[in-house]
Amino acid sequence: MSEEEVRKGLAGVVADYTAVSKVNPDSNSLLYRGYPVQELAAKVSFEEVALLLWTGELPTEAELTLFEAFERANRALDSRVKAAIDLLPLDCHPMDVGRTAVSVMGANDPLAKDSSPEAELEKAKSLFAQFPAVVAYDQRRRRALAVVPPRDDLNYSQNFLWMTFGEEAAPEVVNAFRVSMVLYAEHSFNASTFTARVITSTLSDLHSAVTGAIGALKGPLHGGANEAVMHTFDEIGIRKEESRLEAATRAKAWMEDALEKKKKVMGFGHRVYKNGDSRVPTMKAALDMMIEHFDRPEMLGLYDGLEQAMDEAKNIKPNLDYPAGPTYHLMGFDTDMFTPIFIASRITGWTAHIMEQRAANSLIRPLSAYNGVDERHLG
Ligand code: COA
Repeated sequence: MSEEEVRKGLAGVVADYTAVSKVNPDSNSLLYRGYPVQELAAKVSFEEVALLLWTGELPTEAELTLFEAFERANRALDSRVKAAIDLLPLDCHPMDVGRTAVSVMGANDPLAKDSSPEAELEKAKSLFAQFPAVVAYDQRRRRALAVVPPRDDLNYSQNFLWMTFGEEAAPEVVNAFRVSMVLYAEHSFNASTFTARVITSTLSDLHSAVTGAIGALKGPLHGGANEAVMHTFDEIGIRKEESRLEAATRAKAWMEDALEKKKKVMGFGHRVYKNGDSRVPTMKAALDMMIEHFDRPEMLGLYDGLEQAMDEAKNIKPNLDYPAGPTYHLMGFDTDMFTPIFIASRITGWTAHIMEQRAANSLIRPLSAYNGVDERHLG
């Protein structure tokens, strides 16, 4: 095999068809089942987006009501999942907790051996309903706080924040959170989704595929970037008393120094989008809303300073993780809880892909070009 046939990182390789979403870097657009993600973020609930991704169509009012009732009835933290989480050390990464929780859910799933389309959809809905309690409980136990039971008079986003913080969030905060969930839900053959499809292609089960996907999402080149953005902000130093301009000046200087040292700065760049991530303007608007709501102009200064300096030096644009990180920070989440929130959202896209893969399966098994030592023999 010639060297040029090896596509490192599968860059530019079209691995299969998908009808779940379309990423178009030229027009800078992202469609979920044909709908622009910006329109969905502006007009529909995250619950509706989940049904859209799974079934291909937005739900009717009756379908939505039925799903909402199911989601509200299945939100409580399963005692077996809680027991497994309690065995994990408080200093392990919350992504380890999420990965373990899904694995435990799979082992206890009454439909574990059933991979029919109906059973797969049922499992996807259950994961969707149950995962927020995992994130909320993990955040609380790290703060030595007790579990907050779910409330069935709240929608998905309101309840997620309620279970995490034990108080009702302001409508602006709920909205910014919902927007982030819609934007994080799906993005074609990214690393974690492809992982889920590879696992599914062996005819393994849905929970195994999602567990593997969580492992892929954890890395800082993928979902872990939203946390890494916050570490950058922390390294520069968040000074509440500072003006927007002062913060921007310090952030610019930090970025210039980082780029001079050839550092990779997380939250910038994308394998597919080269002229900016289609989701960023919508998420940035949600961040702006949070900055105004919590009166934190210095955060905007840090954001702008880094973005400008990166643009001037390398013309590399922010990706979704860049505005999402500080948004979750302002809402009150600990930094290492950001990627588990991403799981709660991406469960929808992953499971839509798992169902699509299973419906038209072909084992995913690429070739490799051998570059080790020549054949040799034992003396
Ligand atoms: N900071 C600094 N330089 C960056 C950069 C970043 N975030 N992203 C890309 N570059 C530079 C590389 O250093 C490289 O420069 P060079 O040609 O002078 O060596 C060039 O841009 C191409 O980068 P490369 O990593 O090869 O592109 P890719 O398509 O493989 O990478 C990412 C895409 C996402 C892996 C990459 O942009 C990255 O690591 N970003 C940071 C992690 C992140 O935010 N991930 C979330 C993605 S949604």
